[in-house]
Amino acid sequence: MEHPALPGRTGLTRLAAPAVAALLSLAVLATGCTGATVQGRPGASGLRDPYFPRAGNGGYQVEHYDLDLAYDPADGLLHATAVITARAEQGLSSFNLDLSGLKVESVDVQGTGARYNRTGNELTVRPAKDLKKGEVFRTEIDYGGRPKPVVDPDGSKEGWIAGGDGAVAVGEPVGSMGWFPGNHHPSDKATYDITVTVPHGYEAVSNGELRSRKEVADGQTEFAWHSPEPMASYLATVAIGRFKVTTGRTPSGVPVYDAVAPGEAAGSEAALGRLPQIVDWGTEKFGPYPFGSVGSIVMPAQTLTYALETQTKPVYSGAPDEELVLHELAHQWFGDSVSPKSWKDMWLNEGFATYAEWLWSEEHGGVSAQRRFDAFLAGDTSVDPHADGDWAAFPPASPPGPEHISDDPVYYRGAMVLHRIRQEVGDPAFFGLLRGWAADHRHGNASTADFTAYAQRRTGHDLKKVWDVWLYGEDRPTAP
Ligand code: TRP
Ligand code: ZN
Repeated sequence: MEHPALPGRTGLTRLAAPAVAALLSLAVLATGCTGATVQGRPGASGLRDPYFPRAGNGGYQVEHYDLDLAYDPADGLLHATAVITARAEQGLSSFNLDLSGLKVESVDVQGTGARYNRTGNELTVRPAKDLKKGEVFRTEIDYGGRPKPVVDPDGSKEGWIAGGDGAVAVGEPVGSMGWFPGNHHPSDKATYDITVTVPHGYEAVSNGELRSRKEVADGQTEFAWHSPEPMASYLATVAIGRFKVTTGRTPSGVPVYDAVAPGEAAGSEAALGRLPQIVDWGTEKFGPYPFGSVGSIVMPAQTLTYALETQTKPVYSGAPDEELVLHELAHQWFGDSVSPKSWKDMWLNEGFATYAEWLWSEEHGGVSAQRRFDAFLAGDTSVDPHADGDWAAFPPASPPGPEHISDDPVYYRGAMVLHRIRQEVGDPAFFGLLRGWAADHRHGNASTADFTAYAQRRTGHDLKKVWDVWLYGEDRPTAP
């Protein structure tokens, strides 16, 4: 899915007049100069993620994305402006953004036209003036076109998915480059403002809180959404449709915003009715709910082949059941607030969200986690109708390739790792660990090594055998 990018110095396609002048004067200054000019170098075109090496970019960290999108479901055309505020981590002569498809109309850096070129999914930007290490700089990109879905290594689709009478954007692991330019790796979290303009009669929904909704010129409605907490770009979403919107609060006071495709409203009622209680249960188990609001986006059935834990408002394809709502809400703590450092750390998302299902079940009259663990170990996965693969096929902390990061071992063997810890340390220490982990890395990133070190420190137990056998071991684990 990703193409090798050429170094940013070749094939720069556009050169705005002010940029020419600035570059010329820079060249003049640099001639025979003794260090008065800041000399930057190109930022890396990827972060060397073990599974998606070209995802993300080096040399800067994004602080804030301000996305302004106009979309018309009738023709499927997107017109957009992205304003990216970032901090340079080195002197930069050029830097990269990830963008797949679409047409870039212009790029400005610090208010001045910048040269840019595109190779594969890399947009290389060469500012008129080098950026200094530590400098906070603003990049504005005008772009648009008809977004195309990004196809995952496992064949599933993400990115901007148009269909029915609307569209939805989902980005795990690398689909966000299909609808906005950015530093698309979970290790670079940022705050967001996402403003969406759609024809009158449509609702536009995104992460965070709705700041304003207004009728604007030409029969359009503008929705301004604000996410004040850091977000990994794969968790950003926009959904457009003729949704039925319901708002409320959880018993503890967290604002709720549910947007449901009309055809899915009846089918969603039961599970979404439990959402407020699930959020407050999560708060009790895992610590304070990490965001300013919660909710859900229910798209028409068959829009996607999966659900996604998009921040504050998970996306469902068709009416979800209670267990799926629980799973996606558990991700708000594990995945969204505590995000993986790399795509190798997926089990920290999926193992935890799956174990949350097991906990919810045992506390609400269902099968106990111990019984599930025992049944899985005995080769009987019928307690979980969604477990259709071999939970033991590979160690959860080391999937064999990018096409396997959402396979069963990441979910179920990941959950079993947590159950093994619980068996070793007992309930009080185990639940302290879950809360402590969520608190310690709140709104941050963490790796598997961070977790194993933290678990040992926090519980005071030597858990090496659990890691060796359950997390990293190639062999099928047997009864402890
Ligand atoms: N994270 C999603 C969930 O658990 C599943 C998923 C969707 C996924 N797309 C993915 C997992 C891509 C890994 C990679 O509900
Ligand atoms: Zn999940």
